[in-house]
Order: sequence, then C-alpha cells, then structure tokens
Amino acid sequence: MKAAVYDKYGPAEVVEIRDVARPEIGDRQVLVQTFATSVTTADWRIRASAFPGAMWLPGRLMFGLLRPRNRVLGMEFAGRVVSVGEKVTRFRMGEAVFGFASSGAHAEYLAMAADGAIAAKPASLGHDEAAAVPFGALSALVFLRDIAKVRPGQKVLVLGASGGVGAYAVQLARHFGASVTGVTSTDNVDLVRSLGAERVVDYKKEDYLADEGPYDLILDTAGISTFRHAKRALNAKGVFLPIEFGPREIMQALFTSCRRGKRVVVGISNDTREDLAIVGDLLERGEIRPVIDSTYPLERIADAYRRVESRHKTGSVVVTVGSATSASSSAA
Ligand SMILES: NC(=O)c1ccc[n+]([C@@H]2O[C@H](COP(=O)([O-])OP(=O)(O)OC[C@H]3O[C@@H](n4cnc5c(N)ncnc54)[C@H](OP(=O)(O)O)[C@@H]3O)[C@@H](O)[C@H]2O)c1
Repeated sequence: MKAAVYDKYGPAEVVEIRDVARPEIGDRQVLVQTFATSVTTADWRIRASAFPGAMWLPGRLMFGLLRPRNRVLGMEFAGRVVSVGEKVTRFRMGEAVFGFASSGAHAEYLAMAADGAIAAKPASLGHDEAAAVPFGALSALVFLRDIAKVRPGQKVLVLGASGGVGAYAVQLARHFGASVTGVTSTDNVDLVRSLGAERVVDYKKEDYLADEGPYDLILDTAGISTFRHAKRALNAKGVFLPIEFGPREIMQALFTSCRRGKRVVVGISNDTREDLAIVGDLLERGEIRPVIDSTYPLERIADAYRRVESRHKTGSVVVTVGSATSASSSAA
C-alpha cells in the first residue's frame, strides 16, 4: 500500500510516499481503507520534533529519542472497514467509519482498535469532511466540558477561533450555552461569526483583552497570550486555559489552584469512542460542522504540512487518499 513515511525528524521534505506492507490486524482490530485523512498541528509537531518549550524531551521520549518510532503519521481518518478481527462485534465489513488514531492514518490502510476512537461516519458528511473533525472537536470538547466545565450563560473568549481547535471550540462553547467571543484575523471574521460567535474581534485591528473583567473563560488555542495579560479580562473567578503550555503555566496552575480568584488551568485532551460518538451525533444534528482550510492528494502531503506550519489555517488541512470521488462521497 502507499503511505507517507518519514525516517527522521525534520522539515516537510522528510515525508515521502512509499510502498509499504499493509498492516495486519489482531482479533480486536479492524482494517480501515482510508479515503481521507488530515495533517494536524500534532502531526506537524511530531514530524518536526517541534514540541513547545520544555515539552521537547518528553516529546522525544514518547515518539522516539533519536529517530521516530512510528514511521507513518496521521491521526484523523475516514474510510471503510475492509477486514474485521474475530472478536470484533462493533463493526461490519463495508461500514463507513471515521475516527482518531494515535498514528498511521497517512496511508491507504490503517489498523485500528475496535474499541478506540472509531465510529460510524455521519451519513450526511463526505469522507473528506468527516476526516476534518475528530482532532479539533475532541480536543475542544474535552477542554470546554471536562477541564473548563463551561456552563450556560458563561462568557467565553476563544483565541485562535478559526484554527483547528478554535473553530470547534467556538461551535461547542455555543452548544454548551455560552456566549462566545472569537479572536481571529480580518479574513476569518465572517467564518468565526458563522460558527456561532456572538462577537468577533479582529486581532489585527483591536486589542482583544482591552475590556476589564468580562470573561469566565479565556481559551487560548493559539499560544498568543499569558496569564499576566489575560488576567485583566477575566472576571473574579475567571479561568485562563492555554492549550499550548509549558513549565510557567504548570506552576501558575498549581499556585492558583490553592487560592480563590482567577486561575490558570492546564490539561491534555484525550480521545475516546464515547466522545467520538457525541461528536458524530452533533455533526448529524448540524450542531457543529466541519471547517476545511484546503485539500491535498496524498502525493502532495508535504505541501499539506507546509500549510499547517503556517499557523494560519482555518480548521483542517485534509488529505485525500485514493480517488477524490471516494473522499468526497458521503455514501457508506
Ligand atoms: N494540550 C493538548 O492536549 C492539545 C490538544 C490539541 C492541540 N494542542 C495544541 O494547540 C495548538 C492549536 O492547534 P490548532 O490545530 O488549533 O492550531 P492552528 O490550526 O494552527 O491555529 C492557529 C490559530 O492561531 C491564530 N493565530 C496565529 N497567529 C496569531 C496571532 N499573532 N494572534 C492571534 N491569533 C493568531 C490563527 O488565526 P489567523 O489565521 O486568523 O491568524 C489560527 O486561528 C497547537 O499548538 C497544538 O499542538 C494541544
């Protein structure tokens, strides 16, 4: 099968399309023929070993100290089940699925644990649309629901509101009943408003932290603010939640957790089949929708990486695998 393979950490050019063996599946796995995947900021960080700040060493220990442990990256996927392990009852042959793998989705076939973050693809979405959602939506869901515990009526400021996580954070915060202000650049103001932001601040023209005290939560998906700067715009019990964080934010989170008042909270998102089912349901009901920046064929995956590294994509950079018709088809 064809796969995007990298043997060493480095720039986009280290990724090459090669013929590799199709993965074997175990009793509790399914084999998915991939029609669409994406390049996420996490794929880029792992490929380039571009882990923020003090996360470099933990990142290297996790993904391979001297060279990458898994040679095929790729987390988001959509496609169809073409082989089912003996002990799998959740999926049938031919079923259209989407999901979030730890790696391996930048390939024509992917072995996936049947009890992992894999679910029936929403019938209303094409494979390319379905593959654009899990990373951003699962992250935003965990940050807003579990870490920030957003409640109806709260005022939420999303920094990076048009990005891979931010585009879903705006939609999900709104779904949870919050009043959302999104921060983005001039070209993306209309997009962020269409995702449900009550107010949109163009960071190129306005200071998004100018108002004193309105926000219950400031979710920084873009790594552009600090607690010191964000503090002023938080209300008395407001929370600053940076999703790119380092030792400083960890210390601030520990320190502020011991006292009343404004707090820093940090955390890591996770990906479960239960949450993917929630995301699938929200997509089916039209409560959230995919946001696609651009689409590349697998052969041009290096260009997809370059687009992600710009840090100015809107939503997801999708990669189609096999024929473009399969990727855009919504049929099972
Ligand atoms: N902790 C965790 O578990 C976790 C989970 C998921 C992701 N992450 C991390 O979260 C980060 C966000 O990922 P992502 O996929 O959402 O990134 P992304 O798609 O690259 O989004 C970048 C966003 O930042 C905005 N931006 C760029 N420069 C800016 C500036 N100077 N001022 C204001 N906004 C600016 C962009 O808006 P414009 O294009 O309009 O400028 C864009 O909306 C990544 O670092 C990722 O590694 C962490």
